[in-house]
Amino acid sequence: MQTVRQLDALRGAVATWRAAGERVALVPTMGALHDGHMALVEAARRAAQRVVVSIFVNPKQFGPNEDLAKYPRKELADTRMLTAAGVDLLWLPPVEVIYPEGFATNISISGISEVLDGAHRPGHFDGVATVVAKLFNQVRPDIALFGEKDWQQLAVIRRLTTDLDLDIEIQGVPTQREDDGLALSSRNAYLIPEERAQAVALPRALGLAERTIAKGGDPEAALAQARETLIAAGFEVDYVVLADAETLSEPIEGRAMRLLAAARLGGTRLIDNIPVAMAE
Ligand code: PAF
Repeated sequence: MQTVRQLDALRGAVATWRAAGERVALVPTMGALHDGHMALVEAARRAAQRVVVSIFVNPKQFGPNEDLAKYPRKELADTRMLTAAGVDLLWLPPVEVIYPEGFATNISISGISEVLDGAHRPGHFDGVATVVAKLFNQVRPDIALFGEKDWQQLAVIRRLTTDLDLDIEIQGVPTQREDDGLALSSRNAYLIPEERAQAVALPRALGLAERTIAKGGDPEAALAQARETLIAAGFEVDYVVLADAETLSEPIEGRAMRLLAAARLGGTRLIDNIPVAMAE
């Protein structure tokens, strides 16, 4: 695996593959890789001959009181995992290659970026959209893969790609989970053992609400019960909602729906989401 930190070297490698008629996949990450990321890499390998993984802890998507400084950084372990997984190129840009002096562009996607996590983390999705647009233009992949765990992020990136006519296929990859159901996340590393034990309440509460709604039960009552379950387990709840899977606005009969939640355990904010089976 080549590790590349400068744009001309990245462009050169990608140009060589393109000249050979090879398809290129991009897996954008912020590092601290786990099996969830590796599922993206495996899907990328199935989708293209060449796989680029980017690692960049993007300051623009962290709010002033968020965990940018303590976000886990594991370059050596990440490099080993990506090499073992057969990744062709690790794109590891220094901050000045992403945001050179004078950088003044902000990509803001209204509506879908402003609800749920966007309401709780103002500016977060502007930071994500801006860096993803930049990474797309640097790598110019045929396909880019993102985890469904960050469902709203995936929806924002689909909107960005459609709105800007970017000729890049966006593939969502199902959430990878621990044996007890907790969604894999780099932020799980912050949980102390007691919180880790409490954290399982999040996927369980979503699963219970999903079964109630899928059986035709009252969605509002199911969501209220999920919130109460989370509070009883020690969470502070940001939201538990049922939304249209694509637009994240109010669910519309006949269209795919998603249950989404964000809740905090101590200083750690966890998010999760699951599809809701359509009632017969
Ligand atoms: O999901 C992530 O790790 C980040 O939000 C992304 C997409 C790499 C942009 O920084």
